[in-house]
Amino acid sequence: MIYAYTKFDHLFFNVRPNVISGIKIYGRDDTYPIEQDYNAITGEEQDIWQRLFRRLIDALDQYAPKIYLQGVEAMGLSMDLWPNFAELSPKVKAASGWKLVSVAGFLDEFLFFELSAERKFPITNIVRQSKHFEAKYEGVTISNRNEYTPEPDIFHDIRGHASYLMNRDYGDFLFDVGEVGYELVCNERGFDLQLVAHNVKHLQNFAWWTYEFGIMKKQSGSDSVRQSPNDIDHEVYGSGILSSYDELRNEAACSKKRSNASEMLPFDMEEVVITRFDYSEIQDRYYVIESFSSLHDAFRENRDLFFYEG
Ligand SMILES: [Fe+2]
Repeated sequence: MIYAYTKFDHLFFNVRPNVISGIKIYGRDDTYPIEQDYNAITGEEQDIWQRLFRRLIDALDQYAPKIYLQGVEAMGLSMDLWPNFAELSPKVKAASGWKLVSVAGFLDEFLFFELSAERKFPITNIVRQSKHFEAKYEGVTISNRNEYTPEPDIFHDIRGHASYLMNRDYGDFLFDVGEVGYELVCNERGFDLQLVAHNVKHLQNFAWWTYEFGIMKKQSGSDSVRQSPNDIDHEVYGSGILSSYDELRNEAACSKKRSNASEMLPFDMEEVVITRFDYSEIQDRYYVIESFSSLHDAFRENRDLFFYEG
């Protein structure tokens, strides 16, 4: 668990101690792959899926990137039906080489990157607000609202991430990130474990401020796939925003300058990798990229940032 290693934390901005306390994390000794039993999905879970989906559908149409909306369409993701991995995963595999795998929850770094290196994307087999969620977190204080939960539930994983994996270029970007992560956790360079943890945190920060909570400049032509034109200067691509009604509403209000709750900052790799974050609050900043290709280029060109040697 990298959070136990703090020797280099003084090099970070915005350090939040105990930031993931409460979330159950699965490691190698746990039973984490859970074969989806589609017939066991309850009526309550189906209702929650529909409710979450319906609440965000208009905002996602208006603010999500073109490749995301095209991915939803191509995957055939439906508001009416809980995602069936047996149907969705082969479509994702054909499009980008990635496979969706059903897991019990939040995986530790080693497991997550090990799967990424095989183009396997973990999807948590639980949804916020359900009885299963309540049972998993009985006695634990953790946000469990329609609007947001720090637990990576199926709504976040499918509605936020999976549609992107219908795009080959995006899939390659995520694979490159995963490959760096896997190289780090395998530690073939023989770094001190404090240093390994520090570099993994660099990568976490990058992931957080980009594909989890990043935004980008409005792309020309993207309105062609929308029912309603985008009325802000940004597109919201981070999956953490796309799966949270409150976060999306906050981002749109800040883009419209009706709120200054969160800062809009130009994307800067060196700043992003040293900036920590908080799982449990609306983000206080969003980094704005130019485009997906510029993000992928920046990642490739700055690979050394993830192999800091102390
Ligand atoms: Fe995520």
